[in-house]
Amino acid sequence: MKVSIIGSGGIGGTIGTLWAKAGHEVFFSGRNPENLTNLVKEAGNTTQAGTVAQAAQFSDVIFLAVYYWTTDDAIAAAGSLDGKIIIDATNPYIRNDAGEIQRVAGASSALELAQKLPRSQIVKAYNTLPTATFANEHHRSEPYALFYCGDDGDAKATVAQLIADSGFAGIDIGGLSNVVNQEPGGKLYNTPLTVEAAHQLLTTLEN
Ligand SMILES: NC(=O)c1ccc[n+]([C@@H]2O[C@H](COP(=O)([O-])OP(=O)(O)OC[C@H]3O[C@@H](n4cnc5c(N)ncnc54)[C@H](OP(=O)(O)O)[C@@H]3O)[C@@H](O)[C@H]2O)c1
Repeated sequence: MKVSIIGSGGIGGTIGTLWAKAGHEVFFSGRNPENLTNLVKEAGNTTQAGTVAQAAQFSDVIFLAVYYWTTDDAIAAAGSLDGKIIIDATNPYIRNDAGEIQRVAGASSALELAQKLPRSQIVKAYNTLPTATFANEHHRSEPYALFYCGDDGDAKATVAQLIADSGFAGIDIGGLSNVVNQEPGGKLYNTPLTVEAAHQLLTTLEN
């Protein structure tokens, strides 16, 4: 499959590399594509790098991994994203005046994105674990669970395949309205879990 990465830093670079190693064609992008030469070299010959607009043209599956506060700039640079699957890995943190990263209480980056891109299929995924876990703990014999949610079944099936190919076990938590459980402050955020433990945790959400 062809996949484009918008924001090719820690998360975008790591997940794009996992997909490339699984045989997918990956287009890395950022504001400074000239800085992505080493990433492309390491990720292999099914990858390339370019501008955000080129990335948006390359594929119908877009992995969004920019800082929350640069999302508007990134989607503006992409051009039309109508009809595309957007895998949203962003979390609603901002940098305060002292340079510290702070959670934006009550904000959901996925729900905001769905409002900004009403003709795209938003699937929230890859936001619940740290970059180091993705980089070092993929393809475990007992794979770690990776929660995802969204409103479009076909889009979620595509993302489920990509999650499996990256060496994790996808767990569908339902529609995008459930994303509050999966973003910072939610019970499903930031804990590596086996599939069994993840299903146990999910039952506590329903009570
Ligand atoms: N760190 C984690 O463990 C983790 C885990 C899960 C999810 N996340 C989320 O993933 C997102 C990225 O985090 P990260 O840790 O990967 O950050 P990062 O390493 O700083 O990478 C962000 C990348 O986005 C690019 N970028 C910034 N503004 C852009 C724009 N307007 N258009 C295109 N690209 C842009 C940056 O490159 P240029 O400056 O060259 O454009 C940079 O390579 C955040 O929303 C974060 O909350 C992080």
